[in-house]
Amino acid sequence: VLTAAVTTNSQALWYMTRGFGLVALILLTITMALGLTQVVRFARPGWPRFVVAALHKNASLLALVLIAIHVATAVLDRYAPIHIVDVFIPFISAYRPLWLGLGAIALDLFVALAVTSLLRHRLGYRTWRAVHWAAYATWPLAVVHGLGTGSDTKLGWVLLINVACVGAVLSALWWRLASGWSITNATRRGVAILASVALPIAVAAWTISGPLHPGWSRRAGTPAALLAARGLTPGATSAAGTGLSLPLTANFIATQRQTGPDSSGLVHLTISGDFQGGSDGKLSIVLTGQPADGGGVQLTGSQVRLGPPTAASEYQGHVSQLEGSTVVATVSDAAGQTLSLTAHLQLGPGTGVTGTVEVHS
Ligand code: HEM
Repeated sequence: VLTAAVTTNSQALWYMTRGFGLVALILLTITMALGLTQVVRFARPGWPRFVVAALHKNASLLALVLIAIHVATAVLDRYAPIHIVDVFIPFISAYRPLWLGLGAIALDLFVALAVTSLLRHRLGYRTWRAVHWAAYATWPLAVVHGLGTGSDTKLGWVLLINVACVGAVLSALWWRLASGWSITNATRRGVAILASVALPIAVAAWTISGPLHPGWSRRAGTPAALLAARGLTPGATSAAGTGLSLPLTANFIATQRQTGPDSSGLVHLTISGDFQGGSDGKLSIVLTGQPADGGGVQLTGSQVRLGPPTAASEYQGHVSQLEGSTVVATVSDAAGQTLSLTAHLQLGPGTGVTGTVEVHS
């Protein structure tokens, strides 16, 4: 329990970053949808324009507060190397520069929108309007930022939030196009319709082939040191319990530790932990490697142990494939029975590791 509490504390800021990112996106979506539907009021005399305008303004201010908390926790948290300059200047961060950079542009645009709106009476309508067009870029940039950098993109409910947000904005946009826009803007309208169909399809295709694909955290630009740190503690040894019933899919909670370099210059990353929820099993994965230039680790060896239970029925083997935080291994027991094991790991901040493990013969 103590370990769990300590781990939770050290992870709190990082989880807040991710949680507030999602809440900020929802508020930004509401802001965007209300902004889009405001124009509809011209075509619908009965439309409660002041209510919508006030909601739009309040939602945007709340979104700003939530975004501020989101970035403040990201900077304060010590897990990922994110600095205050990364909040405003895009593409310079050490952590997932492209995807974090899109968030920085979205933030810059959003701040410009907020400031010009507060000073609207001084700026004049045309200037304000020109800046307000940036709103159309803010929201999609924030969506792609969240999908691209979010460690939670693969979770079903997070995907659902994204789909709902995109659905809400598209509905508002199409409603506006259908009822709020004058015919003289036919070209703009055509471009808007085309973009509103093509962009979501492109983003969906990219999400499937990118963030939802194994190995994304490395491709997204996670620092090698963080990737390497995701993983290691000296093998858990004994385990108690019954035999494994196969095929098996279990949640996995573990700790990670890195040791070395030892006398031969090798570092050892060990992840060891237990299966949760009825499957009484233990798993330890040790990756051995040579520190590479630039902070990563060149894998030179591995050892995988799968239990329970007694030494006689322990399975041992090696990693056969390592992609991002997905580990595939083949292990066998003393009697020669061979099992395949796939572990999808989420290497948390601190020493915590969670994930799922599938085992089949
Ligand atoms: C309009 C502004 C922004 C919005 C609406 C937004 C929204 C989001 C969303 C929805 C996520 C995904 C959360 C998850 O998967 O759980 C996310 C992740 C994240 N965002 Fe933002 N964001 C914005 C700007 C920024 C900026 C400027 C930074 C720069 C410091 C930033 C840093 C992060 C970090 C560090 C993560 C988590 C990355 C990870 O899980 O690996 N965001 N953001």
